[in-house]
Amino acid sequence: MSSPTSRSRKQQPKRTVSIVGTGSYTPEKVLSNGDLERTVETTDEWITTRTGIRERRIAGPDEQTSDLAAKAAMAALENAGLTAEDVDLIIVATVTPDMFFPSTACFVQQKIGAENAACFDISAACAGFLYAIEIAQQFITSHTYDTILVVGAEKLSSIVDWTDRNTCVLFGDGAGAALLQHRAGGHGVISTYMASDGRLSDILYIPGGGSRFPITKENAGDRLNCIKMNGKETYKHAVTSMLDAAHKALAAANLTPADLACIIPHQANLRIIEAIAQRLDVPLDRFVVNLDRFGNTSAAAVAIALDEANRTGRMKVGDYVLLVVFGGGLTWAASVIQW
Ligand SMILES: CC(C)(COP(=O)(O)OP(=O)(O)OC[C@H]1O[C@@H](n2cnc3c(N)ncnc32)[C@H](O)[C@@H]1OP(=O)(O)O)[C@@H](O)C(=O)NCCC(=O)NCCS
Repeated sequence: MSSPTSRSRKQQPKRTVSIVGTGSYTPEKVLSNGDLERTVETTDEWITTRTGIRERRIAGPDEQTSDLAAKAAMAALENAGLTAEDVDLIIVATVTPDMFFPSTACFVQQKIGAENAACFDISAACAGFLYAIEIAQQFITSHTYDTILVVGAEKLSSIVDWTDRNTCVLFGDGAGAALLQHRAGGHGVISTYMASDGRLSDILYIPGGGSRFPITKENAGDRLNCIKMNGKETYKHAVTSMLDAAHKALAAANLTPADLACIIPHQANLRIIEAIAQRLDVPLDRFVVNLDRFGNTSAAAVAIALDEANRTGRMKVGDYVLLVVFGGGLTWAASVIQW
């Protein structure tokens, strides 16, 4: 399969980048808080009041991250009025790739028939979708590619420790996708701010399964390949980091929170979103919230919420929209988009 190479980009002026289509897919199986009450020592009341999550979706054994991603991608292509052959580049943001390699993006390419695309994955945990949008935007701005498919996709159920009530109630599976192009006279991504702090890698991580602690017969029972999280520390940094990113992206766009028609935040905990709303002094009803139905789907979360906001008409042409995310790494980012 071939991919287009850069086309005499040096002389050309920078291009604006628009999101021209969105899509999402979540698995059919619903796992409710009531279901979890039967497997770990928890209650629907605790989960709802501490997190806002009521249920999450769980992929079937034959459903891989690339299957969820491919379905979201097909929905985005249809929404954009494009075909898979139009796609020059596929970027998948995920912490649950089908395999270490090939990339999940390559599996998506094969499943949707995007024969003209170059493909790679990025690892930026729950911030991955916005990191990928920023990478895509750089490729389009510089005239390297014309049409880029960005997907956030996760099968977090495969890395959750289902005996750990501190984490297993929080996460779910799903995928969201966006197609990016330059549209003459169109609106688009105005500013993006990205940041990371590797000193805090140990508050949210998966210790094993990589080169540091390969899974062996001896450690197989230790669940090293599952999510470990210091909830309180993560919470604290999520609020301060997302606020900081929001302010920086808004300042770069020469806007204030009051200018925003809609805010699409990472879907980890309703209390985190409420704290951000309060500190930005923006009413909560301007935030897109779907974590009650899907829980935290990591790189997919903001992508699924963006698609829902698009399909339900939450964003009108010309509206300013803020996307803001946070995840393990630590990584965080915010983008201001004019819809
Ligand atoms: C995880 C989180 C919901 C926990 O909420 P919290 O109010 O901080 O709760 P605490 O950690 O203080 O735990 C309070 C108590 O509830 C208990 N608890 C934890 N999980 C529980 C559960 N599912 N059901 C019942 N009790 C639970 C704890 O054991 C603790 O008990 P103790 O006081 O007897 O020790 C919250 O810290 C959070 O959302 N953190 C950020 C998570 C996040 O954003 N992760 C992803 C980032 S991408």
